[in-house]
Amino acid sequence: MTDIAERLEELRESGLRRRLRLVQSPQGARVMLDGRDVLLLCSNDYLGLASHPRVRAAAAEAAMRWGAGAGSARLIAGNMPPHRALEQRLAAFEGYESALLFGSGYLANTGAIAALAGRGEVVFSDELNHASIIDGCRLSRAETFVYRHRDVEHLAWGLREAGGRAALIVSDGLFSMDGDVAPLAELAELARRHDCRLMVDEAHATGTLGPGGRGSVAAAGLSGEVDVVVGTLGKALGSYGAYACASAELTEYLLNAARSFVFSTAPPPPAVAAAEAALELLEAHPERVERVAANAATLRGALSAEGLPVGDSETQIVPVRVGDAGLTMALSELLLERGVFAQGIRPPTVPEGTSRLRFAVTASHRRVELEQAAKQVGAAARELSVASPTLLTA
Ligand SMILES: Cc1ncc(COP(=O)(O)O)c(C=O)c1O
Repeated sequence: MTDIAERLEELRESGLRRRLRLVQSPQGARVMLDGRDVLLLCSNDYLGLASHPRVRAAAAEAAMRWGAGAGSARLIAGNMPPHRALEQRLAAFEGYESALLFGSGYLANTGAIAALAGRGEVVFSDELNHASIIDGCRLSRAETFVYRHRDVEHLAWGLREAGGRAALIVSDGLFSMDGDVAPLAELAELARRHDCRLMVDEAHATGTLGPGGRGSVAAAGLSGEVDVVVGTLGKALGSYGAYACASAELTEYLLNAARSFVFSTAPPPPAVAAAEAALELLEAHPERVERVAANAATLRGALSAEGLPVGDSETQIVPVRVGDAGLTMALSELLLERGVFAQGIRPPTVPEGTSRLRFAVTASHRRVELEQAAKQVGAAARELSVASPTLLTA
């Protein structure tokens, strides 16, 4: 039996013990964090819609009309008009025949992957894919070929080796810890050539990339060609939950075969209605998407000017690599003391030796806030002697 106290102590000693902080105000560019007003640079509320009055009102109205919860799984007694309305709207937005809601992105990924691959088959997964994709591969009981990050040559080699057993290629569209984008055109071509399916997780790309925020698949001109597009409602769409877009046939299959759909309570009507209101706002105000991109460029430029390389980030997710987990957390704490909240990211979220500060930029930030924050990061990094370029790029 695991000795819990010992295990917690081990985590503390290796700088990996986590604790919860308390955010005492709605999401926004600034929040009250554990009693202190801070600039928030680690929220995925990319379009600033989680606290938008129209989104809040939609949730409140749905709570009064439909109730706080859906009562059961969709396939039993939990399928209600807000679910259907949002699915139709999401499918149209993404350019697919059909969409299916899931309780969360974690559930969508685990459920869809395990439904699309099985024993005797092979799933191909980028080494930096999100944990929910990794867990989906494990649950599928298929063999998993983990290809080097964005390395299509390595993937092509693996596909050739797998022969006719290739079932699914799965990738983040926009990588959640690095801010870079998957080589989607090449992935789609390889999937076609090897007669296997392609699934793309748009968790961080919905609302931030592509025409009108339609995501990385739309940005690559591949809407409808990628077999399954998963998106979340809990990030740019300001609510909670997720969806998978696919052909009508494939969606019907997921409805029958994805265990995280079949055996889990339907998303609550207020969350669903809030996401629909957010989607409506996104469609009416695509300039919010442009603002995220402009703010991200500002932060990337300002951090680089401080001598802090931001890797291959080309999006609103901006990592500053430190390497050591303890040093990363020390930097995060020092910044917090100075009113800048950027989460330190450690293993197992990222590979050993690649701990980093992960900045997430939103449409709500002002340019000057981002420029000042970058200066503070530069100063704090120098104080802790983490600004050596060799350390940062290692
Ligand atoms: C790439 C990616 N996929 C899936 C998820 C899971 O989504 P959710 O938070 O809705 O469970 C996340 C983050 O939470 C993510 O970063």
